[in-house]
Amino acid sequence: MFLTREQEKMLNGEYGWAVAKAMAIIVKTGEVLGASRLVEISHAHVSGVSYTNILDPGLDFVRRLFLSGGRARVYTTINPGCVDYSGLSSLIDRSFNEKQAVIDESLTRMGFKPVFTCIPYYHRPPSQGEFLAWGESSAIAVANSYYGASSNREGGPLALAAALTGYTYYAGLHIPENRVARVVVRVDPSASRNPGALGLWIGENIREIPLLKGFNPPLWDLKIMLAASAASGSHAFIAVEKITPQGFYKVDPLEKVEVEWRDLEKYIGLEPSGGSVLGYLGCPHLHPWEFHLVYEYVKRRGRLPGRNRLLLTIPLEVYERYRDKVLYLRSLGVDVAAGTCPVVSRLTRRFDHLVTNSGKAVFYLSKQLKINYYLTETRRVLEIVYA
Ligand code: F3S
Repeated sequence: MFLTREQEKMLNGEYGWAVAKAMAIIVKTGEVLGASRLVEISHAHVSGVSYTNILDPGLDFVRRLFLSGGRARVYTTINPGCVDYSGLSSLIDRSFNEKQAVIDESLTRMGFKPVFTCIPYYHRPPSQGEFLAWGESSAIAVANSYYGASSNREGGPLALAAALTGYTYYAGLHIPENRVARVVVRVDPSASRNPGALGLWIGENIREIPLLKGFNPPLWDLKIMLAASAASGSHAFIAVEKITPQGFYKVDPLEKVEVEWRDLEKYIGLEPSGGSVLGYLGCPHLHPWEFHLVYEYVKRRGRLPGRNRLLLTIPLEVYERYRDKVLYLRSLGVDVAAGTCPVVSRLTRRFDHLVTNSGKAVFYLSKQLKINYYLTETRRVLEIVYA
């Protein structure tokens, strides 16, 4: 692989142990993927930072990078950890707060922005054609499919390495010739109604890059679909007609398929009738616009009845901006957690049913919590917890 003088110096340790280690990770990965060179990135987003996922070995690695002088060389944001940073949630377990604080302190002192969200594009929307190194699968798919910036699906260590060097390998989705949609998927209007289930279907049934036709949702529903397809099928890029910037991808279809409501039924689960219900919205994190929709609904309906609970997960910054509204929701029995989610943390209590609009949450939580689930539209989630 061709390396510039500066990149060689980084690799040879002239910028310190942390940068050398980071550069070695990038070069090795690039070589395996056949990259001929590295490219400069404008934004790294580091995932895999929750103590409940990386445990002590991960904590020690991050700490060592910090102590040996590792510092962000580009704008870098941090994915959710396992702590509710508002301190208000009674559903998010606090047992790991101290361990997570060590990780967070190391990352922030390395110069990473402590946004603790999986929607980093809320803080800094990427521009078309930018090179990114993002490590949160749902966000990567949004960067590629909605903004027309390019990011490969980086694991946590690769995004971290890109943050410390400012480079990533030139391979995969960074190369325009690799962004070719091979399967045209016509989405029936009936299937557009449940973006979470649609995403799970795409992830499970489509292997190549698809081009979706007939699906034209707002960003909030698009992120739900992309998160689900990234979870169930590792999709990092889905071309969406009328949304993905033209020129970012080519279409060379080998196959055409249609998806309608009945194809999605197996992903939807059963509507609860009896037992305790956890309604969950915010996977990926709620954008302020969605947060306000939920806020207005709850304000109209008042206090949550019975044993049901509603959990909202939001970026830390949304909590800080709308603290009064969060406190008001809390006073009506709604649990709001900032900078975390139940997938990367632990819940303090058990429920009989999970009701959510998120296919990604269903994909992980149905196994993690061994819980019945119902995957439906946002409004229906709210109606069910208020039933
Ligand atoms: Fe975000 Fe947690 Fe879902 S990190 S995408 S809310 S699994």
